[in-house]
Amino acid sequence: MIRTIIWKNNAVVLIDQNALPLTERYITCHHYSEVISAIKDLTVRGAPAIGVAAAMAAALGATALPVKPAELFRQSFYKICDEIAQSRPTARNLFWALERMKKCLDEAIASGKEKIVPELVAQAKRIGAEDIANNRQMGKKGSTLIADGDNILTHCNAGALATAGYGTALGVLRAAREQGKKIHVYVDETRPVLQGARLTAWELKKEKIPATLITDNMAGFLMQQGKIDKIIVGADRIAANGDAANKIGTYSLAVLAYVHNIPFYIAAPLSTIDTSLKTGLEIPIEERSGKEVTNFRNVQTAPDGMKVYNPAFDITPAKFVSAIITEKGILTKPYLRSIRTLEKGQTAR
Ligand code: MRU
Repeated sequence: MIRTIIWKNNAVVLIDQNALPLTERYITCHHYSEVISAIKDLTVRGAPAIGVAAAMAAALGATALPVKPAELFRQSFYKICDEIAQSRPTARNLFWALERMKKCLDEAIASGKEKIVPELVAQAKRIGAEDIANNRQMGKKGSTLIADGDNILTHCNAGALATAGYGTALGVLRAAREQGKKIHVYVDETRPVLQGARLTAWELKKEKIPATLITDNMAGFLMQQGKIDKIIVGADRIAANGDAANKIGTYSLAVLAYVHNIPFYIAAPLSTIDTSLKTGLEIPIEERSGKEVTNFRNVQTAPDGMKVYNPAFDITPAKFVSAIITEKGILTKPYLRSIRTLEKGQTAR
């Protein structure tokens, strides 16, 4: 199994996603600031993976703090969490994981626990383990939507690499394969950082899941030709009404799917859903360096001084989303009602 993030000997070990697919190597972070850099430069990326990395970064920060007096420890730990929270703005999982770490500390202090740091390390590891377990659940539930012989399009990388392991959208496809369904995946290249070509293609090849790589601008033509039965992607943040932020290009796919009557699914853990935001308009969208557009690796592909706009994500209105697959069940429209039902543990599917 591909493992993206591991806590090992008081350090955080990350698969270097910038080196893939040519080189499979791992980096070891001994200080939380190294994990922050890894999140910023996309060494570790994908919403759930960012959440797990953030939790482990916080635990790593805690290991270097003097534990007494407890109030000073708390203040310093909160400061570290604030620093980690500045790394990337869109993925909800980052903030969700840091909230869990802070709550863990507050509860440990309130109950007079002596060994606070091991408590925080255990919590960070738990967040990672739960992520894998949730993805497997999501896979089981989501695979009911996948039929034998389906041709499925995916965008960006919502696989093992975007999580602690197994993946969300790719987890659903893995589960379908494990059940013996014959599927074929079209992989969007995903400009400008090529998470599809570099990472999703790498994962699918490794698992011998039949796949074909296309450039982003080919997807509409394939839909028109009847080559796509379903689309499945991940999400970075989902608002209460079901509007979803995901990798730039997702919105265009969803609109095209709507026009061609192709089901468009999102697979994401509940930790990606942010019910404090009414609609997708409130989701902060990260803008990244123009260099990602004017250069590939170190090769310049645009004229010197060219002006660039580089939003890393877009918002897909809930109207275009056929269903949202979570670890607890499949959400359908109207999404807020479906989310509330699921929270009350009443979902049937
Ligand atoms: O910029 P990235 O590579 O972090 O963007 C990742 C995505 O948009 C993924 O589709 C999303 O995080 C879901 S991952 C399970």
